[in-house]
Amino acid sequence: MASKATIERPETAIPIEKDPDILAAAARLAGEDLCSVADLSSAEVRAILKLGHDVKRNPREYRHALDAKQMVLMFEKASLRTRLAFETGINTMGGNAIFVDHTSSPLGERESIADVARNVERWVDVIVLRTYAHDTITEMAANSRVPVINALSDFEHPCQALADFMTLQEHFGSAAGLNFTYVGDGNNVCHSLMLTGAQLAVNVTVATPRGYSPDIEIVTLARDIAQVNGCEIRLLQDPQLAVEGADAVYTDVCVSMGFEHESTKREPIFRPFQVNEALMRKAAPHAVFMHCLPARRNAEVTDEVLDGPQSIVFDQAENRMHCQKALLLLLLGGLANTASFQ
Ligand code: CP
Ligand code: NVA
Repeated sequence: MASKATIERPETAIPIEKDPDILAAAARLAGEDLCSVADLSSAEVRAILKLGHDVKRNPREYRHALDAKQMVLMFEKASLRTRLAFETGINTMGGNAIFVDHTSSPLGERESIADVARNVERWVDVIVLRTYAHDTITEMAANSRVPVINALSDFEHPCQALADFMTLQEHFGSAAGLNFTYVGDGNNVCHSLMLTGAQLAVNVTVATPRGYSPDIEIVTLARDIAQVNGCEIRLLQDPQLAVEGADAVYTDVCVSMGFEHESTKREPIFRPFQVNEALMRKAAPHAVFMHCLPARRNAEVTDEVLDGPQSIVFDQAENRMHCQKALLLLLLGGLANTASFQ
């Protein structure tokens, strides 16, 4: 694996409005869905992140980029970060968010998902979904003429992973060549991190208990992408070995939403996978600690690590907004309304 010392710094900056990755992504992604990170090419992932950095630096440039655009958020599960990052994101670009709480009435129950799509597309410009079943998202996307965005399903959390790698770029200058270790459940967040890491030439190591490894379909896909980009995807069952020399150590809850009935069974299995100061000492001295949040304090991560100097969890949370703004700009064609792009 490449060491931190060999990490390349970003190439000479090209003005954002002339960047070929951004221009190609803007042309290709307008009107598209984001159900999975695999819907994006490596160049498109890089473009979203580049635009995310620019949105963060120059929010005023994009103040009217999505004037009068309507976004609906239909959520079957609780949310703090994803919901507010989307709502503040579109509101600060001139658009509007409408939240529909589906926590007590799952999508597809009152009327078919296809019929919901055929109605909603008549009023709004983008549909953002947080669901239990990933199929709910792909079915909505298949039946909607406006873009559908996965805001977390049981299979993936693409918006999270994009913001997380944007945060790593911000911290290290570049993500390519980093050694990134995920410790814990091979879940939705883990899946999207593996795919995004592979697309950005990051060496991704995943350490899970036996029986909780990531889905084989995602592993295969991530390894295919990694091969093209010259990086590695490793699956281990030993967290100590997995974090050795890591530049970033990431964990998530061991009981995701929808798996609460497995709490008693899972807790002892995941105890040896806790990220604590002893585990962080095995990572590189400059390593950062990451978590998508919400965290179960002193379960998958100790207070000392979560609140410690290596933690960048609130930068990740902040970047959810900048990165989701970039995504909305590309999917909704917002760059055409931005002065520097005209
Ligand atoms: N990380 C994340 O998606 O947080 P929320 O569940 O609060 O949206
Ligand atoms: N894996 C967690 C992520 C929450 C943001 C869950 O699905 O509940």
